[in-house]
Amino acid sequence: MPTPLRICIIPGDGIGQEVVPAAARVIRRLVPHADLVPADAGFACFERTGQAVPQATMTAIAGCNATLFGATASPSTPVPGYRSAIVTMRRHFRLFGCIRHSRSLPLADARPGIDVLVVRENTEGLYVGRETAYGDYAEATRLISASASRRVAELACRLAEESGRRRITIVHKANILPQTCGLFRDTARSVISAHPGLEIEEMLVDTAAMHLAVNPGRFDVILTTNLFGDILSDIAAGVTGGLGVAASANIGEAGPAVFEPVHGSAPDIAGRGVANPIATLRATALLLQYCGEHDAAQVLERAIDRSLESAIRTPDLGGTATTEDVMQAVLQSIDGVMRETEQMVSVAAEGARR
Ligand code: NAI
Ligand code: MG
Repeated sequence: MPTPLRICIIPGDGIGQEVVPAAARVIRRLVPHADLVPADAGFACFERTGQAVPQATMTAIAGCNATLFGATASPSTPVPGYRSAIVTMRRHFRLFGCIRHSRSLPLADARPGIDVLVVRENTEGLYVGRETAYGDYAEATRLISASASRRVAELACRLAEESGRRRITIVHKANILPQTCGLFRDTARSVISAHPGLEIEEMLVDTAAMHLAVNPGRFDVILTTNLFGDILSDIAAGVTGGLGVAASANIGEAGPAVFEPVHGSAPDIAGRGVANPIATLRATALLLQYCGEHDAAQVLERAIDRSLESAIRTPDLGGTATTEDVMQAVLQSIDGVMRETEQMVSVAAEGARR
């Protein structure tokens, strides 16, 4: 990893332009020694430069320990030469695992008892983007390989063991797609069964969607393919406070990883100063953890929880606060948590001297 710490900052489109600069302020406060490297990507960048992720951005990402990315606005009608910036980054840097952790947050109306880790294969499935239209019909390729299924299953096992989790639910649709989903399921089963401390469960994706909506607390780790993971992690986000608070990590073997909020560019609220910055701040906490800045990550997590406990909330959480109001609350909480931590350290040092 490059030293000193280098973090690439890419706001992207829509509300990414609001929440990522806000998170950059938090990074400067928590890790003032980090070098922040700004870069450009997204649909507006494509319109300006002809590329959603220009070569200079690829080089910047490759030269940093990690990247904080906002959102990309991908039109749902074909635009010649355009491909989603985040999908491009995931494939280019082989960020084969997308990790989305949803837990019950300290919100009065939050459902209690939820703590689910969705581990999603991030580079293939239907997201390989191989689509063809032939007159009356159109088709898409769903690519599943044993190698990609194996490495994401190994990642799920490692994360489960590191966080003291016990059960991995493999989510698929092998009753309808026995070749592609069958390969994913069988590969995942054989990987997990080599970990004696982990229990394997299997579930069809439609059943998993129902259980996530009705009884999300029953899940521990969900391991699944690209499209299913995209949809299921949005449901998991929805039952734990919504897209305004859900964060995501895209990681590979080693080297640069990309952290982002789960949400997109939110064109309906972009430019109004009311986007919830918490999702991007939680992504920032994951980024700091990944970069080995464990204390900073912990301070940020605690500050986020404190600000959620206060009444200062954006409209998506039922409040009337602006992005800036929430940022002020979070920055104040960071200062408070840092002061308390310093006091604890100095009391402990005093005790040790006596
Ligand atoms: P979206 O996630 O942008 O917004 C869905 C709804 O959630 C909207 O009502 C929005 O206002 C609200 N919302 C999202 N984030 C919020 C926040 N931080 N604070 C408050 N409210 C928030 O999804 P949508 O509208 O379906 O897609 C918009 C664009 O974003 C599309 O072009 C899509 O392709 C792109 N997109 C990009 C993603 C990425 O970059 N990883 C992920 C999802 C969508
Ligand atoms: Mg999504």
